[in-house]
Amino acid sequence: MDFLEIMQQRRSCRSYQPDRVIPREDLLKIVEAGRLSPSGCNSQPWKFIVIDTPEAKEKLCDAIVVGNGITGAPWRHNVSAFIILVEQTAKVMPAVFDHYKDTQRFAPGDIGAACMNMCHEAYSLGIDTCMIGMNDQNKMEQYFGIPHGADARLVLALGYGNENSAAKKVRKPLEEVCSFNKW
Ligand SMILES: Cc1cc2nc3c(=O)[nH]c(=O)nc-3n(C[C@H](O)[C@H](O)[C@H](O)COP(=O)(O)O)c2cc1C
Repeated sequence: MDFLEIMQQRRSCRSYQPDRVIPREDLLKIVEAGRLSPSGCNSQPWKFIVIDTPEAKEKLCDAIVVGNGITGAPWRHNVSAFIILVEQTAKVMPAVFDHYKDTQRFAPGDIGAACMNMCHEAYSLGIDTCMIGMNDQNKMEQYFGIPHGADARLVLALGYGNENSAAKKVRKPLEEVCSFNKW
């Protein structure tokens, strides 16, 4: 399949078939796509925590409720597995560090790149995904041992989507988002 066709077809999935298990072999291929991703100064400021046992998934489902029942994933209970993308402080080149000091200039973009590569690898394996941006950092630390100072920046939900899962959302037209050589 042409790579652009994958971009056109992949969509966030929010309706999963319950009780379908993703083989660990496939989960590791998806993590591999994250591991191979580019990052500023090749700092690789990430750790990927795969959550695939019923006990760990139950905790994760609780950790992505941010209070008063607010969650980015009310559909979370049928998800086959999750991957927590933990953002660490990027160790960049000294000259770059001197310029930006300890502001996290590159790491959030690095995590985004890794997550997108994982989504596309999953899609190529017939596995659907949805990124989840909300989580309770304290619960993440408590449940999964994430060290203080590292951030559970994104959670990737994975599973086999139901046929009724919604289509890809419409994008702004190309003319609106693209220009050549000036704004
Ligand atoms: C950083 C980030 C955080 C997101 N968080 C959530 C979320 O918490 N819950 C959710 O259902 N979708 C979430 N999404 C998915 C977006 O809503 C989705 O990508 C967007 O609406 C475009 O739809 P599509 O992926 O189907 O093309 C997130 C996406 C990104 C990039």
